[in-house]
Amino acid sequence: MWGGRFAEGPAAIMREINASIPFDKRLWRQDIAGSKAHVAMLGKQGIVSAADAETITGGLTTIEGEYAEKGVPVDLALEDIHMVTETRLAELIGPAAGRLHTARSRNDQVATDFKLWVRDAIDSVEAGLKALQTALVTRAGEHAASVMPGFTHLQVAQPVTLGHHLMAYYEMIGRDRSRFADARARLNRCPLGSAALAGTGFPIDRAMTAAALGFDAPTDNSLDSVSDRDFALDYLMAATQASLHLSRLAEEFIIWASQPYAFVSLPDSYSTGSSIMPQKRNPDAAELVRGHSGRIAGCMMALTMTMKGLPLAYSKDMQDDKPPVFEAHDLLALSIAAMTGMVEKVTFNAPRLRQAAEAGFSTATDLADWLVRVADVPFREAHHITGTAVKLAEREGLALDKLPIEALKAIDARIDDRVYDALSVDASVASRRSHGGTAPDQVRARIAEAKAALGID
Ligand code: ARG
Repeated sequence: MWGGRFAEGPAAIMREINASIPFDKRLWRQDIAGSKAHVAMLGKQGIVSAADAETITGGLTTIEGEYAEKGVPVDLALEDIHMVTETRLAELIGPAAGRLHTARSRNDQVATDFKLWVRDAIDSVEAGLKALQTALVTRAGEHAASVMPGFTHLQVAQPVTLGHHLMAYYEMIGRDRSRFADARARLNRCPLGSAALAGTGFPIDRAMTAAALGFDAPTDNSLDSVSDRDFALDYLMAATQASLHLSRLAEEFIIWASQPYAFVSLPDSYSTGSSIMPQKRNPDAAELVRGHSGRIAGCMMALTMTMKGLPLAYSKDMQDDKPPVFEAHDLLALSIAAMTGMVEKVTFNAPRLRQAAEAGFSTATDLADWLVRVADVPFREAHHITGTAVKLAEREGLALDKLPIEALKAIDARIDDRVYDALSVDASVASRRSHGGTAPDQVRARIAEAKAALGID
């Protein structure tokens, strides 16, 4: 394909380091779609004859069927998916195959193929994230009023509801979806027709190929078009951030499933046993989601390092763009599916969650707030009085709302019986009605909005 000016063929090692077919065979669908769009345009513009355009299209359809049925043959000598397909086309239709590459280079071809692939990847991730949100909202609806401890520093802080906690992840995943949507919108300009780097002298119609491939418009600078991998980095950065969210949820499930917590029981279908300890049920799927997020971040860093400092336009370093994107996508797709399955099937131990919320003086802030609201005590002073009450309760081994009124009055005479109404965990969560707060009616309002946004009821 480029042997004209060479006296000697490549060394075996050269072949091996040069070839991308072992991984870029994954682009075959996009490569054939791009070639079909290109040859249709060449035919319409009279750059190749209508008869040749038709023959080439027919050959490409045959190859498409072969790949779908038998996979893409891996021949290192043919370098990449583009050359494997063109070589097969020549076998099938003869010399007319040589006209397909008119007004095109592998540089704009691969940029186009890869953009199409990443666009499909974004669409599949988007569907997966939406399904995860649906699972979160559904489980949140079951537990809008189930009280659990809210934590800061992993220390019991204030009571919240489990529905509120799950809806926090709905929000996080929503931001991920919007990042992928941004990436998709920014990606959707077609590089095909930029040729090697400078454009082409043939009278091509770039708007036609762009439209045929579902792009909004052609790109505007041929140098940028063949050297741009921002779209792949946008994908990897969005994937990294999404995987961080999945990892945090996985981590919570791991902690919550451990016996001292016993907040949840993970489904058998997402757990494994131990070969030595018969009682074991390990949260392996959650641990692998947590682990995969590190690998996804590594893929993002790999392509960042590849692109850093590359001069315009195409350099072969850029062939290394695909493995990290493929790897990150496979890991992310699996992680999303695994977390969705776990959210759908996890059993929440509501009595245990309530018990944990009642321990740890989680309503201490409510006592301080009560002193401010009912007895007009300045908050800083109320905080101090409450601290003294907590110290006493801790010494006595009692919950705050189990301290006798005399003991509370001895700490501050302004405290009276009404305080007990504020000290239960239910009263605590019910009081937090500020927008976005944990009160069950607030949580239900957010769930209703989420269901409307997701189109579920
Ligand atoms: N296989 C290459 C890649 O993935 C595309 C070929 C461009 N090759 C070249 N020598 N300009 O980037």
